Formats: sequence, C-alpha cells, structure tokens
Amino acid sequence: MKQGKAASEVNVGALYTDMCGSQIYELIWGDNIHPGGLEETKILAEKAGLKKGQKVLDICSGLGGPARYLASTYGCAMVGIDLLETHYNEAVKRTREAGLEHLVSFRLGNAMELPFEAASFDAVWGQDAWCHVPDKAKLIAEAARVLKKDGIIAFTDHLETEKMTDELRGLMQPLAIPNLQTLPGYVALLANNGFTILSQEDIGKGMGEQYRQSNIILENKFKDEVINRYGQEIYQGTIDMFQMLVDAVERGMAGRGRFVAKKK
Ligand SMILES: C[S@@+](CC[C@H](N)C(=O)[O-])C[C@H]1O[C@@H](n2cnc3c(N)ncnc32)[C@H](O)[C@@H]1O
Repeated sequence: MKQGKAASEVNVGALYTDMCGSQIYELIWGDNIHPGGLEETKILAEKAGLKKGQKVLDICSGLGGPARYLASTYGCAMVGIDLLETHYNEAVKRTREAGLEHLVSFRLGNAMELPFEAASFDAVWGQDAWCHVPDKAKLIAEAARVLKKDGIIAFTDHLETEKMTDELRGLMQPLAIPNLQTLPGYVALLANNGFTILSQEDIGKGMGEQYRQSNIILENKFKDEVINRYGQEIYQGTIDMFQMLVDAVERGMAGRGRFVAKKK
C-alpha cells in the first residue's frame, strides 16, 4: 500500500457532495451506502456475532443506515462517527424520525482520532469507508484502543492487490481514495494491534458484480431522474466511476475484503 495524503487533504465532500454521491448511491443501494446495500450489512452482522446490549462503534457511519439496522435488529447500542457534516446531520435526523435515539447516536469526527475513551466499546464496525482514511495503521490502532478486551472488530473495505498501478491509483484520487490497503496488509495491521483473526475473506469478485449491477440499475431505473436533478456530467461521472471499479476488479487490481477479529 502506498501512503497517500493527510486526512485534511482528502476531500470526501468532493465525492459525496459535489458529485452528489450521497443521493445517487442511496437511490441504488438504500441508506446502507456501500455496494450490496443492506444485504452486505446483514452478512457482516451475522459474522460479527453481535448481541443485544453490546456497545458498537460504527467508524465512518455515513447516513446511519447500518447503525439503525444493528440497533433495531440486534438491540445494539450504536455510536456512529463520520467526518462529513451533511452525513452527520442527516444521520441524526433520520434516527430521530425512526424513533431510535435511545439506541443510536452520532459524533462528528475523524476515524484517525477517535474522541472516545480506551476500552469503551464491545465492537467496532466499518463498511467500505476506510478506503477514504489516509492512515490505515492509525485507524486500526485507534479501533484497538477503544475496544474492550475480547471486543470484536468487523469490517469490509475496498482493497488493492499487487497488480495495482500508479495510473489507477491516480484515477482514484477524485473518489477521495488516498490509498487502499491489501488483504494481507489489513491482516498484518490487525495482528500488530493485538487482534486474533477470526475470518478474512476475499469478496472482490462479488463487489465487481455489485458495481456492474449498480450501473445497470442506474441506467435502467434512475437515468432520467439523476440527469434532471444533478445533470449529465454527474450522471456520466458516476457511471464511469462504477465501470472503472468493475474493470479494476476484472483486471485483478482491486477487490474487497471482509474481516472479523477479536482483541486479545
Ligand atoms: C461509502 S460511505 C459509507 C457509510 C457507511 N459505512 C455505510 O455503509 O452506509 C463512506 C463514509 O465515510 C466517511 N468518512 C470518510 N473519511 C472519514 C474519516 N477520516 N473519518 C470519518 N469518516 C470518514 C464519509 O464521510 C462517508 O460518510
């Protein structure tokens, strides 16, 4: 993995606000804004073995869809943290509307400097967002710090492989992806931070197919709506971005991992 920019230089708003990512991805995936939507959340939740009453931190919580699902389905006490104020505000509003404030709260903040005390969570959760975080080592160290002993970390993330090129890395910069971790890279970071790996899965092929399907849905169901609301350039930019990710997976350069580990 090549180290990228500092956190302050990663313009997450360029993707989710300027390119209208938040609204367009939600049309396709719902409020669980990652490829595969809620179905992927359900799979990770089963693998994480979450239990009622556990305190869970969702790092990079977006619109709060996964946090609300884990609270309402598993009875977990969820805390979400996200860098983007628009996402934070929307997550708070939707949680209030869903009547889940007693179980779900949010903080505005950075994944690399978690504003929480050591050993304060039973589980740490993340879905396809840590690709935006410049320093993955710091992120995993922070996750380890806030977890209790025997706490679980469960996450999916976009990955790169040894075939990744600098050209493709460059193309990913506008997507607020300063760098990607590799599957063995995440395994090493987890081990170095005192985790026992419970499962590590390469789910890259599935993600390639999910992005391919996302473009079909976008074209067939939402093309006119997206062009009317956000313009042709934004529409085409989204189609091209998803296609770039499909191609990257097909060429074996990019993928996705699903990890569950326990803090010793
Ligand atoms: C693809 S969305 C995923 C949101 C959520 N995990 C989900 O699956 O619905 C990525 C989120 O990561 C947030 N993010 C990116 N970099 C971050 C950072 N350094 N600290 C906190 N949040 C960050 C973005 O603002 C965005 O809301």
